[in-house]
Amino acid sequence: MARLGLERNVIDKDVLDRTIARLRQDGVLLPTLRQLEDPTTIPAAIRAKLADVDPDTAHPLNLFRVHWFNTADRRGVADVPDYVELPREITGVDARIVLALGNHFPMIRAHKVLAAYGCLVPRLVTGQFDPGRHKAVWPSTGNYCRGGVAISRILDCRGVAVLPENMSRERFDWLDKWVSDPSDVIRTPGSESNVKEIYDCCAALDRVPENIIFNQFCEFGNYLVHRVCTGAALEKVFEHMTRGEPGARLAAFVSASGSSGTLAAGDHLKARHGAKIVVAEATECPTLLENGFGEHNIQGIGDKHVPYIHNVMNTDVVAGVSDTDTDRLVVLFNTETGRNYLVERRGADPALVARLASLGLSSLCNMVAAIKTAKYFDLGRDDVIVTVATDGADMYGSEVDKVVRRDFGNRFDMVAAGETWGRSLAGIGTDHFLDMTYVDKKRVFNLGYFTWVEQQGVSVEEFTARRTQSFWDGLADLVPAWDALIGEFNAKSGVGRGLGL
Ligand SMILES: Cc1ncc(COP(=O)(O)O)c(C=O)c1O
Repeated sequence: MARLGLERNVIDKDVLDRTIARLRQDGVLLPTLRQLEDPTTIPAAIRAKLADVDPDTAHPLNLFRVHWFNTADRRGVADVPDYVELPREITGVDARIVLALGNHFPMIRAHKVLAAYGCLVPRLVTGQFDPGRHKAVWPSTGNYCRGGVAISRILDCRGVAVLPENMSRERFDWLDKWVSDPSDVIRTPGSESNVKEIYDCCAALDRVPENIIFNQFCEFGNYLVHRVCTGAALEKVFEHMTRGEPGARLAAFVSASGSSGTLAAGDHLKARHGAKIVVAEATECPTLLENGFGEHNIQGIGDKHVPYIHNVMNTDVVAGVSDTDTDRLVVLFNTETGRNYLVERRGADPALVARLASLGLSSLCNMVAAIKTAKYFDLGRDDVIVTVATDGADMYGSEVDKVVRRDFGNRFDMVAAGETWGRSLAGIGTDHFLDMTYVDKKRVFNLGYFTWVEQQGVSVEEFTARRTQSFWDGLADLVPAWDALIGEFNAKSGVGRGLGL
């Protein structure tokens, strides 16, 4: 249980009292999940104070920006999350494909700081994490650990990032600036798909009682923040873009899976709008499609395992996307030649093309998977596919250079741009696409057994309980329970009074 983050009652009152005293001293007020779902519920006094807070600092009030509704300058709150709707000139399909932008989140410019908060806050308010004594360990392929380190800084505790050594240079540059000690960045062997090595490292760290592992792959806080906050945010986007269009239909929600946290938004969108849930993965590492393995460069996703918090039986489709396409598209969208090509030859709107810089590698994977979905199901103008841009291209400048050298002889010219468009956009087909039958779903579900029961010690009963939808729907009760504990925590710390609440 403790490992899965499912507690709803105080576990250790002494730890809790010490934590409250510490956060009182540091002036840290904790937002509720409800406030992060709908930031209009954040008290006006806090919102006013936030206007003077730099979104890129470890300021405690930045916790109140850990939501989808930040404005593009990341200082204000918008009525609707910022999003990019891709035109037909880019997608080649009539269906409307829209990405909510994760790069407006504070401190790390990616929505994974929401997952980090979702995993941490239940531990904090139930007295299972003592920031004065414990180190918070954040196993990740790059963005979650940055979110965890940022929040650890706010709590004035040691935050340890565990990530594969081959992740992009930009992630390590960021971490070097934010960790309190260089030894708090632990590089595990391999790249994107080497999550087993991360688990092994965490198992060793877990033997030290001062280390608390916040394992996003099995903490239900990650599932719940996305189901509640990301789900509601994407629903707002859908409602906004289809105002006055009664025929519009939320046909699908697409998300590449790393921890599968983001996918949880699909459970909300399916319940509310009947959207199909499409999980994307790299064809170079086809774990869900073929029980396969391999290396790929869609940083943040696809890790040769089925995360414990993936609600597989509610997932409808698996879409494979090649990292050759995402690598080349990040070049097309982020070089002057590529952008000129899109404007001059394909007739795309220059303002829209400028916004494509908000799409990092996994966002491009989501985009390609959405195009495949539109083509496979013959979706039309009334159909909307929603997805997310977890981070922007600023995390991948070094990757753009690498791909231009590797794939284009160090020269990305108009011909190369045309080839990229033809191959990686116009040429997208419906290959590596599985509209899952019940048996397919069971096959993927059962694959998780080997990681979770055999390797990680979850009981068979706990594991199989996740087959039924009542298990997942029942988790929703944790949200008001945690919010009540957060409210009590804040009342005892009294930090709100100092902020004029
Ligand atoms: C860039 C990027 N994209 C996608 C994901 C996958 O999101 P999730 O872990 O919610 O499945 C991650 C996760 O770390 C990520 O960093």
